[in-house]
Amino acid sequence: AQVFQAEFIKSSVRTEDCPSDGLPEFALVGRSNVGKSSLLNSIVRRKKLALTSKKPGKTQCINHFKVNDSWYLVDLPGYGYASAPQELRTDWNKFTKDYFLNRSTLVSVFLLIDASIPAKKIDLEYASWLGQNQVPMTLIFTKCDKRKKKKNGGKRPEENVNEFQELIRDFFETAPPWIMTSGVTNQGRDEMLLHMAQLRNY
Ligand code: GTP
Ligand code: MG
Repeated sequence: AQVFQAEFIKSSVRTEDCPSDGLPEFALVGRSNVGKSSLLNSIVRRKKLALTSKKPGKTQCINHFKVNDSWYLVDLPGYGYASAPQELRTDWNKFTKDYFLNRSTLVSVFLLIDASIPAKKIDLEYASWLGQNQVPMTLIFTKCDKRKKKKNGGKRPEENVNEFQELIRDFFETAPPWIMTSGVTNQGRDEMLLHMAQLRNY
């Protein structure tokens, strides 16, 4: 699985406005600052395809990036940005939920979880909602290159990853697939590409 081409296609505010060519897609979601844009850039090996400078909590769009002219990576607004107004913070309840439930070409939601810190309540809530609604999802652990730090709970990424999976176990009938990644070292890049190729070929 290789990426030889990637291009930004469009930003949509409603599910109905998303591209209608029927190509399969994978959506990246996660807390603000979890590393969504960095991961997207790492997958397509382009430093700046997805803007890492966008103001967190402000993006209210579904951004479609077409890869190899045959599938999409979708960048969604980050959630849980503490300083955003309440109505923006809870906005995923509206159009992101609608997108998850009604986008027929959505193959899997990639829920990004920061592996350098302990599980956050909002991430557990998000995973719970996806599980309850049987939205197909893959757990993508980010920042796995980071060393353990006392101020971050003093655990290694592997330990945080295991704990997170333990905490969400009851939300799913079968445990979702998971991949450990880093936008810095490109760890997990090939595994993600292979995973997406396998899901597309179902
Ligand atoms: P928003 O768009 O604000 O929701 O954030 P985002 O999820 O797109 O995160 P972004 O990719 O902008 O990265 C946020 C910060 O984390 C930046 O300072 C990145 O350099 C850093 N970062 C992202 N991925 C990694 C990673 O894998 N390892 C390390 N060490 N830092 C990372
Ligand atoms: Mg971003």
